[in-house]
Amino acid sequence: MSDSTDVFEIMHTTRAMRRLKSDPVPDALIRKILEAGICAANGGNTQRWRFLVIKDRNIKRAVQRLYKRAFDEVVGPRYAASAPPPGVTPERYKRQHAAVEYLTEHYDEAPVWIVACLEESTPPTRWSGASIYPAVQNMLLAARALGLGSTLTTRHLLYERESEAALGLPAGVHSYAILPIGYPMGRFGPVGRGTLDTFVYEDQWGKPWAGL
Ligand SMILES: Cc1cc2nc3c(=O)[nH]c(=O)nc-3n(C[C@H](O)[C@H](O)[C@H](O)COP(=O)(O)O)c2cc1C
Repeated sequence: MSDSTDVFEIMHTTRAMRRLKSDPVPDALIRKILEAGICAANGGNTQRWRFLVIKDRNIKRAVQRLYKRAFDEVVGPRYAASAPPPGVTPERYKRQHAAVEYLTEHYDEAPVWIVACLEESTPPTRWSGASIYPAVQNMLLAARALGLGSTLTTRHLLYERESEAALGLPAGVHSYAILPIGYPMGRFGPVGRGTLDTFVYEDQWGKPWAGL
């Protein structure tokens, strides 16, 4: 399971790939990912999205330090105290935690980051998120289709002001996700999210969907 063009196979195997090689990724592939991003819909078709491609190690390192601080202070303790979510066995959850820790230490070693941003004159809302995360998901799917690994990360937002200063974002621009991209060390595999009966209702909250 590496390169594939079947959209269902890609969706079912677009996992968080947190262990990445530091080998460079050709700009031609980054370009394909960005082009997939700007195919996404956004509210009013206003295209207020901006994508910052980062290769500069010093910038990545400055953000990695904040990302690690957020792990040490918030995310690590939360993981240690929480139970596996639906569709995830305790063993898999433990592996996920180890991978999260790995990415925390090696965040800046991913050869390329794409920082997904919006130019906006008002404070971010759910509507703003709805105009950037479809592009982010398109980029994750495109990376997967090209055999590249990535993870949707947002943890830098725990120190939003400091991270955005380190990224050099101007006033009126907010970051919504950082995608560290590189060739994966491991293999793509199926995602584990549980089954539809846990999540889908019909007509009435809690009533199982008849299509199950
Ligand atoms: C909104 C959002 C924010 C996320 N932020 C992070 C993050 O900061 N760091 C990280 O390692 N993973 C992050 N993830 C990835 C999830 O943790 C990941 O999907 C989950 O661990 C399940 O792994 P899987 O996709 O491989 O099944 C984020 C995912 C989403 C959708």
